[in-house]
Amino acid sequence: MNRFFSLSMASYLLAAMVAGCGVNSLVPIVPSNGLAKTPPMGWNSWNHFGGAIDDATVRSIADAIVSSGMRDAGYIYINIDDTWQGSRDSQGNIQPNQRFPDMKDLAEYIHSKGLKFGIYSSPGQKTCAGFVGSYGHEEQDAMTFAAWGVDYLKYDYCSAQTVYSESASPSAFAKMAMALQSTGRPIVYSLSNGGEDYVAAWGSKVGANLWRTTSDIHDSWAEMISNIEGQAWDASSAGPGYWNDPDMLEVGNGGMTQAEYRTHMSLWAMAAAPLLAGNDVRTMSSDTSSILLNKEVIAVDQDPLGKQASLVMHGDIERWLKPLADGSVAVAYVNLGSTPAQVDVSIHDLHLAKAVTTARDLWAHTSIPLVGDGFSRLVPSHDVLMLKLGTS
Ligand code: GLA
Repeated sequence: MNRFFSLSMASYLLAAMVAGCGVNSLVPIVPSNGLAKTPPMGWNSWNHFGGAIDDATVRSIADAIVSSGMRDAGYIYINIDDTWQGSRDSQGNIQPNQRFPDMKDLAEYIHSKGLKFGIYSSPGQKTCAGFVGSYGHEEQDAMTFAAWGVDYLKYDYCSAQTVYSESASPSAFAKMAMALQSTGRPIVYSLSNGGEDYVAAWGSKVGANLWRTTSDIHDSWAEMISNIEGQAWDASSAGPGYWNDPDMLEVGNGGMTQAEYRTHMSLWAMAAAPLLAGNDVRTMSSDTSSILLNKEVIAVDQDPLGKQASLVMHGDIERWLKPLADGSVAVAYVNLGSTPAQVDVSIHDLHLAKAVTTARDLWAHTSIPLVGDGFSRLVPSHDVLMLKLGTS
C-alpha cells in the first residue's frame, strides 16, 4: 500500500454533502493529486480522427508537435481518445486493439520526444464508441495504464449511466481517481460527462483536474460559442489544479473562418480552459499555426493565478474579463454580429481597482498608446479584440 492509497482510503471515509447541487448525494472526497496547476495543454485524437486513429498516426503527430514548435509552446500531452481498446485477456487485463500493437512502446516514443502520453476510458462497461470500459476493473486498468507510462486519463461516463444511478456518478469518478493515485504515477485526471449532474460543483472533490461542462463541441461557430457561454456560470469552480473544460479545440479543422478560430482560441484562453488541439498538426496551415502558437494568448490561458474570465457584458459585443497574476487584466471583446462593429474600449467601464498604464493587442502584437479613457477599434464579424491591460 503506497502513501496515496492510505491517504485516499482515509479520505474516502469522509464524505461531504454537496448542498443544492442537484445530485444531492454523498460526494466522496479524494485528495488533490497536485497536478495541472495551469490548464493542461496538448493534442487529442478525437476531433479530427475520431475512430480512424492508430499507432503510426499518433507517432507522426508527436513528431509534428515537436517540429511545429507546439511542444515548446506548451502543448505537451499527446492523448489518444476512444477506440484504442481491444478485449481483456484471461486475467482481465485490458488489451489495445490491432491498431495499437504496443502501448508501452508508443508511450516510450512519446516520452522520448519530451512529451507526455494520455489515454481514454469509461467508468461504464462500454465507452461512448462501444469499446470496452473500466467497469469492475478500475484498479487493474489504472495499474495497466501506469505500467504503460500513461500521464493523463480522460474518463468518459458514456454507458456508466446504465450501471450507476445519477447520484452515484461522483462515486464512480472518485473510484478511478483513487485507483490512479494508488499507482503512485502522476496521472492528470479528466472527467467527461457532458457537464451533467452539476459536475462543476463536485469535480474537484472527487480528485479530478478538469471536467467537461457541456456537450461535445463540433467545428461550428454556433456550437463553439454555445460551449464557452455554457460554462460562464461555473467560473468560481476553476483554479490552479481544477479546470472547467468546454471541450477540445477545433482550430484548423476547416468548419470555421480564421476570425472565428481566433475567437475560439481567445475565449478558451480567457476561460483558463485546457488547450487540447484537435487538428491534424502534420498538415496545418500557417494560418492555423499562427493561432495555436500565439504565445501572448497562450500566456493568458496559462496565467498562474488560474482565474476563469467572467462574462461581464452581453449583447452583440460580448466582453470577457480575466484577472492575471501580475495585477494586469486580459479583456476580450467578441463581435457576435454578422457585420463589422466598432468596439469602444473604455477603461472607466471596466471598473478596475487600479489605473491602467499599458494596453497590448494580443493578436496584432502591438502596444496601443493610451490617451484619455480608451480607444476604439473596428472588429470584423465573429472576430475578437483581445487586450492585456497593465495596471499600477
Ligand atoms: C464522448 C466525448 C467525446 C469523445 C467521444 C468518444 O462523446 O464527449 O469527447 O471522447 O465520447 O467516443
